[in-house]
Amino acid sequence: MTTPHNITTVSIIGAGQMGGGIAQVAAVAGFATTVYDAFPGAIEKCKALHDKLLARAVEKGKMTQADADATKGRLTYSESLHALKGSDIIIEAVVEDTAVKKELFAKAAPLLAKGGILASNTSSISITDLGTAVGDMADRFIGMHFFNPVPVMKLVEVIKGLSTSEETTARTIALAEAMGKVPVPANDRPGFVSNRVLMPLINEAFYAWMEGVAEPAHIDEIMKLGCAHPMGPLRLADFIGLDTCVHIMDVLADGLNNDRYRACPLLKQLVVAGRLGDKSGRGVFDYSKK
Ligand code: 3HC
Repeated sequence: MTTPHNITTVSIIGAGQMGGGIAQVAAVAGFATTVYDAFPGAIEKCKALHDKLLARAVEKGKMTQADADATKGRLTYSESLHALKGSDIIIEAVVEDTAVKKELFAKAAPLLAKGGILASNTSSISITDLGTAVGDMADRFIGMHFFNPVPVMKLVEVIKGLSTSEETTARTIALAEAMGKVPVPANDRPGFVSNRVLMPLINEAFYAWMEGVAEPAHIDEIMKLGCAHPMGPLRLADFIGLDTCVHIMDVLADGLNNDRYRACPLLKQLVVAGRLGDKSGRGVFDYSKK
């Protein structure tokens, strides 16, 4: 059967929170899905989380046991990049480091099936720049920006680089829809749309805290109850990771050449102190006792 995306096998590079979530959504949607991560223990952790989330979906009556078992059967986990051989699409979701991503894409590109697509889940790095790592395959390079938690958030921001072809964009949009998501296109500008708008809001919340406008819990309460945000901006910053927030602000400030996007000194200070948010147990708020 041919589909608009013409994709049957999906591979994910990176078994962390985002990569694991993307893999889960792809497998639930019926794609043969491979997750690759060479970091010791990452694959085991990812598989354990998949098992837990699928069991919870069955418990809640959102999925039958048979569907959960079939989903598990579609998932392959590997610590070898070679497991990606023959993939119709490879979606990268590793650390926000241009050099690391480019090196991985250069190694992964020859493993693609004929006509396959390379996608990055980067939150703000230029898709045009990352695409230069794969030479004459840059027309099949695109941004697929998922949101955390991936199984819950509906959006995929589809980022077209300067060299991305119309066909690649159309196939990626069709794939995101087949994965049960709502794809929305955006152009390759610093922060795309989502982080161009979200990060300055989060940064401003840190300024409000630093300047004593209100204490952190009250800033969040005001935005939750007054603006219907599901999480306050400071809680959301912890959820995203304060280091990631600083990184995205740096990309905005440098890419848009405007100091109004510089990260708030208090945000940077927390990162220096190792308070990175949920992942380190403490950020704006303390999660160590939960
Ligand atoms: N994986 C799978 N499912 C999850 C989950 C996860 N990690 N976390 C929560 N859920 C599910 C729960 O199981 C629950 O499902 P149910 O309705 O079937 O019972 C549902 O989500 C709601 O969860 P909870 O009841 O535990 O809690 P909340 O109602 O507070 O919702 C939340 C949690 C969905 C995270 C909500 O607080 C929210 O939407 N927060 C904002 C998230 C957001 O803005 N994300 C984008 C971040 S920016 C980003 O990712 C881009 C990057 O580039 C920075």
